Amino acid sequence: MAGQGLFLSFEGIDGAGKSTHVEALAERLKAAGRAVVLTREPGGTPLAEKIRALALHESMDPLTEALLMFAARRDHLQQVIEPALARGDAVLCDRFTDATFAYQGGGRGFDWQTLSALERMVQHLPAAPSQLRQPDLTLWFDLPPATAAIRLAGARLPDRFESQPTAFFEAVRAGYARRAAEDPARFVRINADQPRENVWQAVTQALRGKGWLS
Ligand code: TYD
Repeated sequence: MAGQGLFLSFEGIDGAGKSTHVEALAERLKAAGRAVVLTREPGGTPLAEKIRALALHESMDPLTEALLMFAARRDHLQQVIEPALARGDAVLCDRFTDATFAYQGGGRGFDWQTLSALERMVQHLPAAPSQLRQPDLTLWFDLPPATAAIRLAGARLPDRFESQPTAFFEAVRAGYARRAAEDPARFVRINADQPRENVWQAVTQALRGKGWLS
């Protein structure tokens, strides 16, 4: 893998517990000698973090919300993700475009084709405009929204998404399922409704299966 970038994204509804695994995997890859960039969406650059604060806390219509997610993504790709992949680093991204399809498309009911058009506009590769930048692998931490809601209860003050009812997260989950069905080779579904240690085993197994971890 030396010299070749690796792009991994981590997805799931709020309360799926992915963030601890993203951090643990970053440490594991570093210990194996890889240069790792650990980042997140929306966010990952000073500008995109400002957009994140707006998108998570201000009310807005669904198109504005979708445009902000893709605006943040554009900056993130240009400033952080593409340069890191060009260096040969492993980029671990806590959420990426599938979250826009799941939350804005599935959860908010925003038009899927419009999101696809924005995806093409924002993620095309400069050297090969017909190709899109996508993660090499997406780990989807999946669990029933009712279970996730119990995990989230009592956690810090919820943002605009975390405060949504369970029905919203059912729709987000369906959005993830639709995205996974559209690109099954890129997705690994991780059963997040089991003890953390078992989830971690599933995460490392997914990477071993690709030859990215020994
Ligand atoms: P999250 O990644 O869960 O961060 P934290 O662990 O700090 O809460 O929060 C980001 C929220 O943004 C999450 O509720 C999903 C939402 N989101 C979208 O609605 N669309 C997107 O495109 C992305 C990347 C995130």
